[in-house]
Amino acid sequence: MTEASQLPVSPGAPFTARCGPSELRPIRRDDAADLFPQIHGQPGVIQWLSWSGPERVWDLEERYSAWRTGAADEPAYMFAVVDAADGSVIGEASLRFDDHPGVGELGYWLGEEHHGKGHGRATVELLTRAGFERFGAFALTARVKEGNEASIAVLGGAGYQAVRAPRVEGDDEDPPIAWIFSTTRRGDGRRSPRPAVEFLLTNSG
Ligand SMILES: CC(C)(COP(=O)(O)OP(=O)(O)OC[C@H]1O[C@@H](n2cnc3c(N)ncnc32)[C@H](O)[C@@H]1OP(=O)(O)O)[C@@H](O)C(=O)NCCC(=O)NCCS
Repeated sequence: MTEASQLPVSPGAPFTARCGPSELRPIRRDDAADLFPQIHGQPGVIQWLSWSGPERVWDLEERYSAWRTGAADEPAYMFAVVDAADGSVIGEASLRFDDHPGVGELGYWLGEEHHGKGHGRATVELLTRAGFERFGAFALTARVKEGNEASIAVLGGAGYQAVRAPRVEGDDEDPPIAWIFSTTRRGDGRRSPRPAVEFLLTNSG
């Protein structure tokens, strides 16, 4: 742990976190303008998500109007993924606790021009450590569509285990959700070595 990561942070307080080439920080409404062209009409991103993406910049502005949403016991947190080298916003990452207290679901996407440069690995590492070390999760999950080898690689590299997802009657996602990945706080703590993650307090709320 770095000195910064030992700062007393109340659960759910906004923070910035850094791992290798990438940072997470609370999303802001004005991130919509940077992120819209990276997802709208981009099949290399959208085909792997469980939503069809925004139609207008306004849709993203609404989505990003608060970094924390949901009821007190079922919060959802949304982050911007930032390239630490130049400060540009390259993707979106989220942690949702809306199914079960203490069990968070990861969501993430990066603009296609930023794929394959280690930002995906760093993003999953950052969400994982934030979930366990900042939000008190005891388990984290991610749902992955058939054929999403990059996502399978980054989750496996962060210590997640996969089970086959049950086929849900009436689920018309294409490709279908094929895998449910999960990890526990205990399991994550046993990983060795783990990439260095630095948490910093931030004022945005
Ligand atoms: C999934 C995603 C975040 C990964 O990000 P990324 O920055 O490309 O990932 P990284 O560069 O950190 O690492 C990707 C790893 O996957 C591996 N990979 C990529 N495509 C692969 C393929 N077709 N088969 C096997 N491995 C593959 C790479 O080799 C790399 O592993 P390495 O570090 O051992 O070389 C990114 O591709 C993305 O945003 N995809 C679209 C949205 C999405 O799928 N979101 C997740 C939904 S569950």
